[in-house]
Amino acid sequence: MADGVFLTFEGGEGAGKSTQVRRLAADLERSGIDVISTREPGGSPGAEDIRKLLVSGDVARWQPLTEVVLHYAARVEHVATVVRPALERGTWVICDRFHDSTIAYQGYGHGLEIELIDNLHQQLLDGFKPNLTMILDIPVDAGLARTGGRDGVEDRYERMDSEFHQRLRDGFLQIAAAEPERCVVIDAISSEDAVHRDVIACIKERLSIQLG
Ligand code: TMP
Repeated sequence: MADGVFLTFEGGEGAGKSTQVRRLAADLERSGIDVISTREPGGSPGAEDIRKLLVSGDVARWQPLTEVVLHYAARVEHVATVVRPALERGTWVICDRFHDSTIAYQGYGHGLEIELIDNLHQQLLDGFKPNLTMILDIPVDAGLARTGGRDGVEDRYERMDSEFHQRLRDGFLQIAAAEPERCVVIDAISSEDAVHRDVIACIKERLSIQLG
């Protein structure tokens, strides 16, 4: 059996990733593709426990390096227990955030060396990367305005200052420029339906598949 396809969505706060993950998974299922959707940090019981440490509480509760280690502890669990087993049985995996988020948030955002994060990824996960990454790009203010209603739950990163968010937005665009064969930037300021159409067009073009 062929391995499944590993797709990731990336982007800053309020870009609409979770909605697009859900809609794409539904379309793939309708087309007869066996697919699961998952997220990081989290996606497996242990990784969800670690997620709670990262997404809530005081903005400055962790050293940037501690954050990287926690994100990687969660990622190692998630990849070993959910992502790799699914791909090996031929199931497609759509993941809301992955390694690029660590590069963007902890690297470009917090200022940790990108090389350190890349080395960690290489050592811990053998450099395991998605087949295709869709980066939903939205201006910082517009994205943060959309997330305004989370009522203080899981909003630790949202509460970081707008310079932090600007750096990580630029970071995602640099990642896309450096790896154009894997990454596609999708303008996420337009309506949910318009973004979904762009996502489907991107999947068809990049993976040469028919859908629906
Ligand atoms: P979510 O709100 O998209 O579920 O993501 C949780 C937060 O975790 C989000 O604000 C981005 C952040 N994050 C990192 O800082 N580094 C990472 O490696 C990942 C996966 C997420």
